Amino acid sequence: MDRTTIVIFGISGDLAQRKLIPALFNLYQKKRLKGDFKIVGFAGRSWSDEELRKIAREGIDKFAGYQVNDDKWHEFKNRLYYISGKFQEESSFTNLANQLESLEDKPANRLYYLATPPSFFTNIIDNLGRTGQIDEENGWRRVVIEKPFGTDLESAKKINHDILKVLREDQIYRIDHYLGKETVQNILIARFANTIFEPVWNRNYISNVQITVAEKVGLEHRAGYYDTVGVVRDMFQNHLLQLLSLVAMEPPASYKANDQRDEKVKVLKAVRRFTHDEVKKYSVLGQYRGYKEEEGVVENSQTPTYAAIQFFIDNWRWQGVPFYLRSGKMMAEKMSEIVIQFKCPPHLMFPLPENYKFTSNTLSLCLQPDEGIHLKFETKVPDTIAETKSVDLEYHYKDVFGEKSIPEAYERLLLDALLGDAALFTRSDRSEIAWEILDPIIEAWQNPNENPLAIYEQNSWGPKEADELLNNQEHSWIHGCGNHS
Ligand code: BG6
Repeated sequence: MDRTTIVIFGISGDLAQRKLIPALFNLYQKKRLKGDFKIVGFAGRSWSDEELRKIAREGIDKFAGYQVNDDKWHEFKNRLYYISGKFQEESSFTNLANQLESLEDKPANRLYYLATPPSFFTNIIDNLGRTGQIDEENGWRRVVIEKPFGTDLESAKKINHDILKVLREDQIYRIDHYLGKETVQNILIARFANTIFEPVWNRNYISNVQITVAEKVGLEHRAGYYDTVGVVRDMFQNHLLQLLSLVAMEPPASYKANDQRDEKVKVLKAVRRFTHDEVKKYSVLGQYRGYKEEEGVVENSQTPTYAAIQFFIDNWRWQGVPFYLRSGKMMAEKMSEIVIQFKCPPHLMFPLPENYKFTSNTLSLCLQPDEGIHLKFETKVPDTIAETKSVDLEYHYKDVFGEKSIPEAYERLLLDALLGDAALFTRSDRSEIAWEILDPIIEAWQNPNENPLAIYEQNSWGPKEADELLNNQEHSWIHGCGNHS
């Protein structure tokens, strides 16, 4: 990372202001951005360098939850530059190339970050290619691409095909910010840096796996985007299926990017594809009451804001174990967790009361907001013959590492892209397989006469049909990470 220029396309947008600039500045404060680096913003507005610097600082003050060292900020801001141009115009890219030439000493690496709407991805990459800016004679060239990566299998294949005409796969960093979360990276550590979990991590001991990503927020002025995609494309194609892969994959041969990514692809290949008729049996898609009246939502919109889907993984480890995944907007709480529910003991010889409901063990990986791990197990109630009670063994990051120990996901991801470590980024084959799994589900729920969306109340835990999905198999949703009902 001796001399590097980070070029952010779409720097005037929300993502750059809320996440990218605050993450880059914090990396700088923490002395993680080594060597001579510059950050060049590129967008349509006619800003000056000074205007970009002012807006960048406002973003940090408003959105970053850390202390700003003003001396460091002063050094950092002088490395920020702005270039105005159009993503579709080759001449703007010729101008960009010339301006970068005059800013940089050679050799200089370049990280191009596409923080733009997806409709510009191929334009930008084509124009970079045409103007010689992917050429690696004077340092490496890498491109970070934000989601959404296509809207279905066909469009994802087309984007991959188009960008692979200009870039090699190892130059492409498809981002999924969930993979940058500390607690998500901890899934592999919990599984494979301990010996106590892995022997029981299979169909012989596990009854079902539940993955919940619940959001309290609604559209947050993003109706223009969200109403065209809905929850399955917005959350399942990337974040939730990534979580499923991490829980279900086999141990990779090494921690290297492609060894990890091979295992993730392998497990997704084993996820059962549903036929049109099976979709209804294994999924519930819903919409929160009042969604249709939100600003920017099209009349009578059929966009799902909630989904609960039961997946099966057809391999030796997981045959017969349901993976229940759910995510929704406008839910009772913001909460992401993975609950592994173990089977009940095969025989209970204790003199328990009739109809006693025995609770089996659960291991809960608490991703946010109260990051940690909970293990529930049975203990004897004192002064009874053999009455049992579930108790909780808890680990909280904040108790061990301090309140502010968890960095923003974008810090890890930006740093990894700069270091050339693609382990936490999505490979092209993975992005296509995820669509292969979800396309039939999205398609089957598109016809409201055949599959009407289940309506759920705001601030609830989703539609009752999603509870029935589990109840039908004698399971129920578990909140493993807190004191929920
Ligand atoms: C994004 C989705 O990828 O993830 C948003 O586009 C969603 O709709 C967000 O709100 C959730 O991320 P987090 O980190 O807040 O759980």
